[in-house]
Amino acid sequence: MTKGLYIHVPFCKTICYYCDFCHIGYNEQIVDKWLIALASQLNNTDIEDIDSIYIGGGTPNCLNNEQLETLFKLLEPYSKNVKEYTIEINAESMNDEKYHLLKKYNINRISIGLESTDDKMLKLLNRKSSFVDIKNCINSFIDVGINNISIDLMYSLPNQTLKDFMYDIDLVLTLPIKHISIYALTIEENTVFGRKGIKSQDDDIEADMYLQAIDKFEQAGFKQYEISNYAKEGYQSIHNLHYWHFDDFYGIGPGASGKIDYYLYDNTRNVKEYIQNPQSKDIMPFADKDEEMFEHIMMNLRLVEGIDIIKFNERYNIDIIAKYKKVIDDLLSKNLLSIEGNFLKCTKQGLPLLNSILTQFMD
Ligand SMILES: C[S@@+](CC[C@H](N)C(=O)[O-])C[C@H]1O[C@@H](n2cnc3c(N)ncnc32)[C@H](O)[C@@H]1O
Ligand code: SF4
Repeated sequence: MTKGLYIHVPFCKTICYYCDFCHIGYNEQIVDKWLIALASQLNNTDIEDIDSIYIGGGTPNCLNNEQLETLFKLLEPYSKNVKEYTIEINAESMNDEKYHLLKKYNINRISIGLESTDDKMLKLLNRKSSFVDIKNCINSFIDVGINNISIDLMYSLPNQTLKDFMYDIDLVLTLPIKHISIYALTIEENTVFGRKGIKSQDDDIEADMYLQAIDKFEQAGFKQYEISNYAKEGYQSIHNLHYWHFDDFYGIGPGASGKIDYYLYDNTRNVKEYIQNPQSKDIMPFADKDEEMFEHIMMNLRLVEGIDIIKFNERYNIDIIAKYKKVIDDLLSKNLLSIEGNFLKCTKQGLPLLNSILTQFMD
């Protein structure tokens, strides 16, 4: 079984008003120390059989040119044989040299935070690049020969109407991209939006936005393969599929998580603590087989294809349909789950209701 390697870069030049991911303001000296700690964690981790690397953040490309090259050099021993090598970037932190650096170190997939095509909305979110900046950034990647580009788009934003979001999508579909992730705004307590009491849209509008987005994407050849993800044929994210297939993955860097065999782990989120002890992590073994199976179901049902029944039964030496008979029969009768060939999956109506479906599996 192949695995993924995730690297967390917890630095951002500015902080967006909605975001509660593990990040701190960029500081050159702290980044230098973090790079030393990262090298130490990499050296002390047995990393094998990986076919994807994902450098996420934070804003990985807010590192200066030298620091970015140091990071890529650290990862060179692992990146040689991977099929997919992704980095998350923000347009405002790119420069000419960084485009060439990414190409030189064989990065072959870019994930760009677009969030909205409306410059006024971008300002409200405290995003620093305009839509035109992002279009230019995408074209610059294509010019250096990296054309596997994904964008992140948010919806259910403050004061956003269904019509606004549909217009966003129309503009997004004019971009030369291969993959789209869409996320409904979540108001996190520990953010400017949380403190100001800003609200996302109500559930009905949010649900309409989600369902109409799927139709528009599908008409344009972006097939939904996961609850929030859409790709042109052949461009599903190999790395993210590791999570949803419940494969193992390594998490390196503060705030990164990993899964190896029968346990999950979270590295410390505290960057100072990480620099002092890069091995500092919480290890969370699955309490028992039932908990592991539930986690597996939770990840697999996010996928449009659903759960591979034969693989699941072999892995746990169990019959999933018999084990969860009552729940599955109930959800099949409500047309929220279906069985297609060898796969147990959410129906189109079921997928947006995934959380309540999972609650039933938990009971
Ligand atoms: C954590 S960011 C990292 C990528 C990069 N720093 C950027 O800003 O583009 C990854 C994505 O998570 C999404 N995101 C972050 N906070 C969110 C929130 N509160 N609600 C919904 N989506 C959120 C955004 O779409 C963002 O692009
Ligand atoms: S959305 Fe990206 S750039 Fe904005 S604060 Fe979060 S991680 Fe940083």
